[in-house]
Amino acid sequence: MTSHLVTGVAELVTHDERFSGPLGVLPDAALVVDDGRVAWVGPASSAPDADRRTDVDGRAVLPGFVDSHTHLVFAGDRADEFAHRMAGARYTGGGIARTVAATRAATDDELRTRLAALVAEARAQGTTTLEVKSGYGLDVAHEERLLRLAREVTTETTFLGAHVVPPGVDRGEYLALVTGPMLAACAPHARWADVFCEPGTPLAFDRDEAHAVLTAAASAGLGLRVHGNQLRPGPGARLAVEVGAASVDHATHLDDADVTALADAARHGGPVVTLLPGVELSTRSPYPDARRLLDAGVEVALATDCNPGTCFSTSMPLMVALGVAHLRMTVEQAVRAATLGGARALRRDDVGHLRVGARADLCVLDAPSVAHLAYRPGVPLARTLTLD
Ligand code: NIG
Ligand code: FE
Repeated sequence: MTSHLVTGVAELVTHDERFSGPLGVLPDAALVVDDGRVAWVGPASSAPDADRRTDVDGRAVLPGFVDSHTHLVFAGDRADEFAHRMAGARYTGGGIARTVAATRAATDDELRTRLAALVAEARAQGTTTLEVKSGYGLDVAHEERLLRLAREVTTETTFLGAHVVPPGVDRGEYLALVTGPMLAACAPHARWADVFCEPGTPLAFDRDEAHAVLTAAASAGLGLRVHGNQLRPGPGARLAVEVGAASVDHATHLDDADVTALADAARHGGPVVTLLPGVELSTRSPYPDARRLLDAGVEVALATDCNPGTCFSTSMPLMVALGVAHLRMTVEQAVRAATLGGARALRRDDVGHLRVGARADLCVLDAPSVAHLAYRPGVPLARTLTLD
């Protein structure tokens, strides 16, 4: 096996507590990769020899971004809906049905080509781990198809049959389908299950419906995630705590009792709160307050939610910049949330950090420090570092 020495790292983010500050930063660093794993990390002055060498010439290196929430398998375009929103319309979730119709009408190869393009776009901006949900099929055959396609690009696949009740379908019948035959067909292709728990949004699911979906999914062996508290205060965050979900996502509208419940649960591995500030950007909504959660001891992740309705962006650097600009995060908190936070939201300990033994998923910046991710918003500084 060929070992590879990376030199010239002006700032290396490791998340290793032996090194400095909240990100475990090593200045003037080097690292050795062997067999796809981090084999050595330390000061450049004491770097060992290796078979090959790459000099990044004074750039910052950090763990590849972990985008723990996306809806990347879909067809169609909703730019018109976005433009209407920017002219004053509100987001209601009603456009999901349009994406479902376009997705059902697309061939496997059309969906595969679009998915591959989005994955490549994310990777080009430094994302090395992606979660991908279904949720634009909404019948047994199409949900299973979307998960099969998602499975071709990631192991982090999520069954989201409980995205919305398809228009014209009886709620009770649809819930029975999602928790019965659809779950049975999809579970073999999924690691996780998710539900859009948003009472007040007629096509989404209330607390008891979401609870039924999640308990059925847990019985089928799936890990749990929740879309909650996106559009208004609601039961999603506390439901995520109750069922032992890995993550509650959006969490834009949390009350004090939600934060207390999340903080109590955080002491024994409770849900990560995954904030999706691209959604607030693209729906022109008030941003959540990450600092309030972090101060209470809750682990926060940042993810894109890339989807054709509420945020059509694959850019984790943008999410870091928004986290700092609008969610009251420090640079260090936002970088952690986009790497280690995402890994924790997916219950992965092999990604999101660069301690010895981690997967050698590296993001390099055309800049000397990670602060530039927020300091130079919109500038394409980040890319995945490929070692050959
Ligand atoms: O995470 N909120 C629910 N689902 C997606 C949006 C889906 C859409 O509008 O197509 C989300 O924001
Ligand atoms: Fe989502």
